[in-house]
Amino acid sequence: MIPFKVGIFVTGRDFCDREAEIRKLTEYIESSFRVLIMGERRTGKSSLIMETSGRISGWKFVYIDLRTVATMEKLCERTANAIYSAFRTQSVLRSITNAISALRPGISIDSQTGDFKVSISPGANPDYKSMEELLRIAGKSRTIVVFDEFQDIMELPGYETILAGMRTVIQSQPDTAYIFSGSILHRMNRLFTDPDASFFRSAQQLNIGEINRNEFADYIRERFENGQRTVTENAMDEILQFGRSNPGDIQRLCIGIWDITDRNTEITLATVQRGMTQICNLESESFVDKLASLSANQIGCLSIITTMDSPIRVNSRFIANSGLKSYSAALAAMKGLEKKRILLRRGQNWYVSTPFFIHWFKTSGLA
Ligand SMILES: Nc1ncnc2c1ncn2[C@@H]1O[C@H](COP(=O)(O)OP(=O)(O)O)[C@@H](O)[C@H]1O
Ligand SMILES: [Mg+2]
Repeated sequence: MIPFKVGIFVTGRDFCDREAEIRKLTEYIESSFRVLIMGERRTGKSSLIMETSGRISGWKFVYIDLRTVATMEKLCERTANAIYSAFRTQSVLRSITNAISALRPGISIDSQTGDFKVSISPGANPDYKSMEELLRIAGKSRTIVVFDEFQDIMELPGYETILAGMRTVIQSQPDTAYIFSGSILHRMNRLFTDPDASFFRSAQQLNIGEINRNEFADYIRERFENGQRTVTENAMDEILQFGRSNPGDIQRLCIGIWDITDRNTEITLATVQRGMTQICNLESESFVDKLASLSANQIGCLSIITTMDSPIRVNSRFIANSGLKSYSAALAAMKGLEKKRILLRRGQNWYVSTPFFIHWFKTSGLA
């Protein structure tokens, strides 16, 4: 079995470090705070939330994933199901169906879990009041309500009204802990620093940065060693360096390395390079599509980025080397790359957010 995991949140034995964050989050939850969790994609926000909630006993856990929620029907449906999953009682199910009876919710039995499942047909046309009603049911005492990838709520038409409604309800629930987690920082900032969002300003912020390098090195080494593979110091440095201590990217690289090694292999710098190539080969189709979606200016920026160390600054040298005509053209291209989630920005500093794509671009002779 491959001892590395990606694409899903990790808990228990698969969860490494983050003890300080767990302690803080536990304290915030036990104080029924409103918590804002911010961090890049694949840093481990959802894992942290899951791991922490698993360690706190006596609290119900309503987990609503807003990723790619595109309609109000979906938002209400996900919320209704998250509430039911947390309580699993007939009376809560009844409260849910009563609260949104105007939407004519359907109830079915999930063939896999055997649990009840609420569905709302497209076109049922819920308004913000349905969400308010649902949060009234969710917001019991000693309950944690999580909105994961919260910034995606901005995709909904009229989201300001929905938010205002949610705020009114949340404010009246002093014994419920609310967690808003997000990875698109400028969108989260807009949601939480808007002048009308004074309620959100009182939220406690928890930033999820890099994972502890030493702890994570031990975690990786142990997994390779259990599979009879040793890792040289240089190779370990390269693994951590490549993933910028982003646990998701590092675990993906480790899967690539695992794929091309056998028992009794020593993992060296060269093995790590081959592991990167392995992942790039697996992804090459999506990388070709990604590249085809870029403008000439964006490709010009990428070419120079492959020769630079992070953080990248868009200065006169950058512009001269990229062959772009002006600062504004360079900035527009960089913003486009940010929108496509290839880069990310912190103030004036830019960072690569998809190391495998950049590696593929660089090594396939396209740069
Ligand atoms: N604490 C951790 N220990 C080990 N791996 C982790 C940890 N946190 C995250 N990961 C890795 O990162 C991936 C993404 O984690 P996830 O919690 O989904 O991140 P996020 O919610 O920030 O996008 C996981 O599948 C796992 O590979
Ligand atoms: Mg997540």
